[in-house]
Amino acid sequence: MVKISASVLNADLSALGEEVARAKAAGAPWLHIDVMDGVFVPPMTIGDVVVSSLRERNKDMVFDSHLMVEQPERVITTFAEAGSDYISVHVESNCDVSNTVRKIKECGCRAGIAINPPTLIETVFDYLEIADMFVVMSVNPGYGGQKFIPTSLDKIARLREEANLRGVKPLIQVDGGINAETAPLAIKAGADILVVGSYLWNSPDMKSAIELLQS
Ligand code: DX5
Ligand code: ZN
Repeated sequence: MVKISASVLNADLSALGEEVARAKAAGAPWLHIDVMDGVFVPPMTIGDVVVSSLRERNKDMVFDSHLMVEQPERVITTFAEAGSDYISVHVESNCDVSNTVRKIKECGCRAGIAINPPTLIETVFDYLEIADMFVVMSVNPGYGGQKFIPTSLDKIARLREEANLRGVKPLIQVDGGINAETAPLAIKAGADILVVGSYLWNSPDMKSAIELLQS
């Protein structure tokens, strides 16, 4: 079954601890932490100190740190030590992707590679054998609550097809604009993990919302 990674970006960040507890109680097994440095994307969001504090109270969730930062290599160790299980870096960032993936794994984490909407999916094919996960962005990074970009569906399908051809099974995550209408399309295209932010936080009943997305 598809897994939900709850993105905290559009939660009530003044009550972050309670919001994460709410997502966990509603059945979200993964927590998606959108880390922005003010350079790769304009906002600055959550740093390693906050991740480590959330980790103290949520030992049983999968911590999925999505680094929207210009120089991810500089902060891999920091986010690993803060308690990340997965660390994803952007193929568009200023880093040597293979080295960064190696470094993430050396730190004991799983490595993800994120791809922005305008970037061709073929750009990441060379990393299919080394990455544990790919994050296909279905909105331009930086903000929650945006509209799903439909061309990302074809990118997910092409990535899944190429992975199958190469005999590898990376996780494919889709990130941005996921709701009851777009979730089935992303699942059909081949996504394993749905990152969901505003749809969850805006739902009157988060548990039912998660169940609906998973069905
Ligand atoms: C965008 C982030 C996403 C996004 C998810 O830069 O990476 O995780 O905020 O939020 P929704 O579901 O509101 O698009
Ligand atoms: Zn994200």
